[in-house]
Formats: sequence, structure tokens, C-alpha cells
Amino acid sequence: MIYLDNAATTSPKPQSVINSVSNAMRKYSINSGRGGYKTARDTEEMIYSVRDTVATFLDAESAENVVFTQNCTTALNIALFGLLKSGDHVVISPFEHNAVLRPLNQLAQIGVEYTIADCVADMDNCKKAFERCIRKNTVAVVCTHASNVCGAVLPLSELSDLCREYGLHFIVDGAQTAGILPISVQKSKIDCLAVATHKGLYAPTGTGLLVTDSTPNPLIYGGTGGDSMSPTQPKEIPERYESGTLNPVMIAGIGAGVKFVSPMQERIYKHEMRLLKIVENEFKKNSSIKTYTIPNAKIVPVLSFNVEDKTSSEVAMLLDRYGIAVRAGLHCAPLAHKTLGTLDRGTVRFAPSVFTTDSEIEYFLKCISKISK
Ligand code: ALA
Repeated sequence: MIYLDNAATTSPKPQSVINSVSNAMRKYSINSGRGGYKTARDTEEMIYSVRDTVATFLDAESAENVVFTQNCTTALNIALFGLLKSGDHVVISPFEHNAVLRPLNQLAQIGVEYTIADCVADMDNCKKAFERCIRKNTVAVVCTHASNVCGAVLPLSELSDLCREYGLHFIVDGAQTAGILPISVQKSKIDCLAVATHKGLYAPTGTGLLVTDSTPNPLIYGGTGGDSMSPTQPKEIPERYESGTLNPVMIAGIGAGVKFVSPMQERIYKHEMRLLKIVENEFKKNSSIKTYTIPNAKIVPVLSFNVEDKTSSEVAMLLDRYGIAVRAGLHCAPLAHKTLGTLDRGTVRFAPSVFTTDSEIEYFLKCISKISK
């Protein structure tokens, strides 16, 4: 199979990640933080070292700010349900995924409101578009770092400046960028950064994390290993958000993923963008293909397109027959599709990874050419 659905999750995973998970299955199948015996201590140390590796990679203040979650959606839910209360208003981007929209629509039932900043017409003045939406009761800017549909990148530093000027929380969905673009939690003064570790960081699926120093209220409550006499949830991060047994095996995979990406992040980005440009240039020569991009936006390597007279699912199905995996439809991001004008039919999404080769791209282009004839 030629896998071009890396914006959903990267596949295959690096051998170092597979080895690390397999080794951890043998060595760290232990309930960390619950026992004083050696294997429990070793497991705890391994988990701490992964927190530390992540904190260094994302320039977080300390390892303690790194909270392991089931996925990026859980991390966003902790941030949104934990920080917002009745009467609050937030400003969001026009590219938000359902991982942000659905929690916000649920929170609307208790009186949380949101406004979508219309930044698409002038991406160079994104900050102004967000600023125009600020009201007296605005408490946060919530934005994806990059669209999972068209790859458009939002300017973190400008939006961070805006948050500082108005004293707002800055909540960032880094699902499509962590591991792809450099992120500094400290420099961008991000209060909550949600990460899909299984995407650009090549960790196993079913893993994610939240980097925070803002102590939102937890989503779930329960045993955290220490201070068992206390009837209430600990205040300290990360314990506050990690009730129940952790998954050391997958956490080891996160550590290996970060170590895999860290020394070559820029090279990975260049490789993927080069492949994307080859595809984009070929598509331009084919009048049956329409691509969807945002003028003046920096992008991550994600390209949405449609083939004239065919639905996006039809194209994905035909590609599947040729042994090529892509995702079609709305990509759990109807707002982004509304922004792009593709809500009716969705798009086909092309997303390469570090493992995608030039010959795979050549084959993909041949197949698309046949499909579009
Ligand atoms: N959010 C993921 C995607 O874009 C799953 O496909």
C-alpha cells in the first residue's frame, strides 16, 4: 500500500518506535507511581524521562507541564472544559476541527460563546482579524496551528502577542504541526498546547499530550498514586490530569518518536514540502483537478483537491483500488470545508510523510491522471 494519509496518523512508524514499544512491553508493563519496588521505580523514571524529552522538544518550562492523554482531542477537551465557564467568550479560527468545535458547542449550553475570526481574506493580518472579535467577556483565543484540510498555518507569535495584550488564555491545537514545525511553548506563551503525538511525532496511535501551566479543572477524577488520603484531586500537574493507570508502553513510544524526529525536523518538512510541490505542479497542468489553498498562507504538507465530476469519496475509492490510501470527505473539520467552499462534496487529501518516496509520488500521479481522464 502507498500510504498518503499521514495527516490522519503517520504510517509506518519508525523501527526505533516499534523497538521501543516492544521493549517497553517487556520491561515496563508495570503500574507506575503505585509501587515502591524497583520495576515500578524504573517505569516511573522512564515516564519522567519521556516527559523531559517532550518538554525540551516543545520548549515547555518543565517536564511536569507535560500531561499524557489518550489523544489530542482529550487534551483539547481538558483545556476547553477546564478553563471556560458560563458567560465566557472565545475567538477561534475558521479552520477549527470538531475536536474544538464540538466541545465549544457543548459548552454553549452553559453559556460559553465563540466567534470565528475571518482571517482568510488577509492571512498577513491574521492578528487584526482575531482582534476585531474580542469583546469584554473574551477569555481566550483557541486556534489550530495548521488546518488538517488545507495545511494553512496560523501565526502563533502574533496571536500570542494579542493574547498577552488582552490578558487572554492561548489554547493551541497542535495536531498537525507538532513534529512538523518548530513550536516553543514558552516563547509563544501558550497556556494549553494539545498534541497528536501519533501524527508528526510518529508515536503509536492512541497517544496524545497536553502541555500546560494553567491548571484547568480536570476532566476525570480518581487515583493518582500519591497522597491517597486526600479526598480531592491533587493540584499538581501532571498528576491532576492523569488519574488511573498510565500506559508506559505507549509513552515509551512517544519518547522514541520525539527522538526520531528531533534531529531532522527541518529535513522532514523540506522533504514533504518538496513532494507536495511536485504534486501541486502536476495538478496545475491538469484542468480536471482543482486544489484548495489559502492565499498568502504558509502551509504544512497537506494538500486538498477534487477531480472534476467525481465525488471525493469516489476518487479515494478508485485510488484504493490502485493500492493508494488517502482520506476523503470532510476530515472531521466541516468549518474548514465551509471556509474553503467544499462543504458540499469535501475534498481528497494528500499528506506525505518522511517515508514517502519520489517513486510513490510518480505512481500516485499516474493513477490520478488515469482517474481524471
Ligand atoms: N484529525 C485527523 C485527520 O485529519 C484524524 O484525518
